[in-house]
Amino acid sequence: MKKILITGCAGYIGGTFCYEALKNNYEVLGIDNFINSTDKNIKSFEKKFSKFKFINLDLSVAQEEVKDIFDDFAPNCIVHFAGLKAVEESENKPDLYWQNNVLSTLNIMKACSQDTRLIFSSSATVYGESTIQPITEKCPIKAESVYGSTKIASELVIKDYSRKKNIEAICLRYFNPVGSHKDGVIIEDYTNKPSNLMPKLIEAVKNKSNAISVFGNNYNTEDGTGERDYIHISDLVDGHFAAINFAYKNGEKLFKTYNLGTGKATSVLQLIESFSRVNEVSIDINFADRRKGDIEVCYADPSLANHDLKWKAVHNIDEMCRDAWNAVKHDN
Ligand code: WQD
Repeated sequence: MKKILITGCAGYIGGTFCYEALKNNYEVLGIDNFINSTDKNIKSFEKKFSKFKFINLDLSVAQEEVKDIFDDFAPNCIVHFAGLKAVEESENKPDLYWQNNVLSTLNIMKACSQDTRLIFSSSATVYGESTIQPITEKCPIKAESVYGSTKIASELVIKDYSRKKNIEAICLRYFNPVGSHKDGVIIEDYTNKPSNLMPKLIEAVKNKSNAISVFGNNYNTEDGTGERDYIHISDLVDGHFAAINFAYKNGEKLFKTYNLGTGKATSVLQLIESFSRVNEVSIDINFADRRKGDIEVCYADPSLANHDLKWKAVHNIDEMCRDAWNAVKHDN
């Protein structure tokens, strides 16, 4: 089982998984349309790994081509990362998000053959603002953004096709992925107006403003700031390999969803404190109004993934902040 087709392989999460798969001697066919990434990672993979092939393709419009590609490459496993993931942008561009995120998933499922396994990059955003914390896979699903709707819709497409075509499919619901692979080769872009907290911290130090706006300090949390379940990108990637192994071992041809998180809630101020301390950089905090669409608390109960996938996140917040900064500190 060593042939993997990876969609979204040019991005932060897909690129980190692709790098790890190539390092572990998988044969990889990568597909990306560079809608929210550059070809930097692709060029690096093509230089370093002979078992890497790449196709620049928009999966959401190329249904026939997707089928031909799948038939030619005949992957043992497909890991589907390709997708846009900015909540605010999804509210402003619903057509783009529904087309890019859901039609690409539909075309992939139409092209899948019965003996393929599919791992899908889903998100804790499908739970919306859950009154139950920590969140289990049984918590109610409710979209509170267009982005969240497209993840829920993609999971439903996968569930139906998994049942109809007898395909083994696993949806992994990410909490807040941060940090960089220890080799420092793939980073979360901090140069293109990032909205997420960790790349915003990096941007602040790199542009020497050292200032960060904290969106709201009157939440009903320990220090009044929003709490999230930050998970090291390497733990997240390991969760995908654990899911692939599980899909091959149990062979029940099923559709399953798993939360990939640490099970720990960390506040904005706690993350900033860790980033400043471990990287020995000063951060000036400006308290601002809450950000539209933000939720108060969101963290995982990862016990189902711990049990079924025999996987557990091992990196702590200090390691996430250290690795995020180490990968970029020498950028000019
Ligand atoms: C984290 C906390 C902010 C920036 C997003 C997506 C979600 C998922 C993960 C894909 C919040 C606060 C942030 C800043 C701040 N992606 N913050 N100042 O919003 O939890 O989730 O990324 O699946 O779908 O929505 O992540 O990093 O933007 O925010 O105070 O400059 O940091 O209010 O409490 P979020 P985030």
